[in-house]
Amino acid sequence: MKNIAIDGPAGAGKSTIAKLAAKELGFIYVDTGSMYRAMALACIRQGVKPEEEEKVTKVCQSVQVSIEYKDGQQIVLLNGENVNPYIRTEEVGKMTSAIAVYQGVREKLLELQRDLAKKADVIMDGRDIGTCVLPDADVKIFMTASSVTRARRRYTELKEKGIECNIEDIEKDIIERDERDSNRKIAPLRQAEDAIVIDSSNMSVEESVAAVIKLVKGA
Ligand code: DC
Repeated sequence: MKNIAIDGPAGAGKSTIAKLAAKELGFIYVDTGSMYRAMALACIRQGVKPEEEEKVTKVCQSVQVSIEYKDGQQIVLLNGENVNPYIRTEEVGKMTSAIAVYQGVREKLLELQRDLAKKADVIMDGRDIGTCVLPDADVKIFMTASSVTRARRRYTELKEKGIECNIEDIEKDIIERDERDSNRKIAPLRQAEDAIVIDSSNMSVEESVAAVIKLVKGA
């Protein structure tokens, strides 16, 4: 099986690019962030606060998270319910980053992610894929972009959805989230030693996809 790891900060374009590259290569795209988001949603629904580690861990250990594919799209199931429509909000994003620091939360998803990579050719994106989940991946990519670029992309995305927002607040949130993801004790966001950096700040989506495909074909 071929395993491709793509890590990087929030809003660097990982999911858009990984999804397109996977389609062209005939690989399965695995979005690990959405699995963490499903568990964060479970905590929000149960009224648990992010700082309550014991309760958060208990909720996460008790729920069932799985994924399936429909028309090539990844669907995340929380106790059998398709939660895709609820996990992309800023509220869930913040909660996710906050609970992803806990060992009990990460352990829950590690085996599931490794199993998926054993069974199929995958492009898996997240924060700790090259460093922790798939240390023997065939290609490791660290995809990044300046925080201004990432905030601008997120701003455009939200505007298109008709959501009122402020670009300075978005950039502040992004920087805060990256800091927490990078400075946590367990499986922090970090560039693997053998990862290749793609800085998408001044690249189009097509150029970034082509760069990923070239790396995979060359591996
Ligand atoms: O990629 P995303 O925005 O959907 O990720 C949401 C949060 O989930 C991110 O801020 C940190 C956490 N996460 C993680 O800790 N490890 C991963 N492999 C993927 C996401």
